[in-house]
Amino acid sequence: MITIIYSFTGTGNTLAVARQLADALGDTTIIPITRAMKDGPLPPEAETADAIGFAFPIYYVDMPAIVQEFVHGLQISGNPYLFGVATCGGSPGGALFNLDALLKTKGAHLSLGAAITMPENFIGPMNLMEPVEKVEGILATARERIPEIADAIRDKRECPLEGSDSTSYRVVASFFRYLITSVYGTTRRLHATDRCNRCGICARICPTENITVTDNAVAWGSACTWCYACIHWCPQEAVEIGGRTKGRRRYHHPDVTVKDMVEQKGDSNPSLQ
Ligand SMILES: Cc1cc2nc3c(=O)[nH]c(=O)nc-3n(C[C@H](O)[C@H](O)[C@H](O)COP(=O)(O)O)c2cc1C
Ligand code: SF4
Ligand code: SF4
Repeated sequence: MITIIYSFTGTGNTLAVARQLADALGDTTIIPITRAMKDGPLPPEAETADAIGFAFPIYYVDMPAIVQEFVHGLQISGNPYLFGVATCGGSPGGALFNLDALLKTKGAHLSLGAAITMPENFIGPMNLMEPVEKVEGILATARERIPEIADAIRDKRECPLEGSDSTSYRVVASFFRYLITSVYGTTRRLHATDRCNRCGICARICPTENITVTDNAVAWGSACTWCYACIHWCPQEAVEIGGRTKGRRRYHHPDVTVKDMVEQKGDSNPSLQ
């Protein structure tokens, strides 16, 4: 069975899960969504795959905007088995139901939607990250789910989508997102402190090309998709959201590197580890 997984990650959790799933399934190609978007809406592999998966992190109980945009523009040929794998901190909300609804507008549907709890990367304005000593256990529990999900995909099973599709949950979540992104304004408050040495990594990994690094400054635009990659991957821990994230530990998945993040953008540099 030939499988494609379109993947998007900010701090590596989703890429690590996509890789584990690819290993369990065999014959699987992982295509970074940001690269597929650069190459055009219809990569040739999409025409021959038996199964197509979408792997992404949950942001505010939904898909990242960049993932929505990608799926919206994707043409699905033939009748592949479609599945979604969302990584989250434990509250996936209606993201997989929303993905299913989006696919239904294309005459397709999601046959399996798994939400896998991974370490939290929501560092600010409030810190939802668990104590560091819990990270290893969360990763181990998540890994245990992979064989069962791979079996269901291999058997092309129709499974109930994971998460919650309730309207009240959606309303509360939208209000929470509005408060944080619009009222508090996380994107406006992203900045580099004087620890920054202008290495340029943040600009090279930002999936939306939202960061510009010059000799004198680092500047953020307004096209942020809230992946928090710039905050967690900065080697100097110089990226902050206002004053709220100062001193908080940074996180990325232990099996994912800056080089993987740069490759996600389609710009490889072997000197980065
Ligand atoms: C802006 C933002 C919003 C988030 N919202 C949620 C959420 O609503 N529910 C949840 O369980 N986790 C939430 N998270 C946590 C991430 O979904 C989780 O850590 C995910 O595994 C990160 O994946 P990545 O490492 O592939 O980027 C959020 C993280 C960020 C940065
Ligand atoms: S990654 Fe950090 S140190 Fe490097 S340019 Fe960006 S903010 Fe500065
Ligand atoms: S600016 Fe930072 S948080 Fe926003 S999309 Fe780019 S890397 Fe992600």
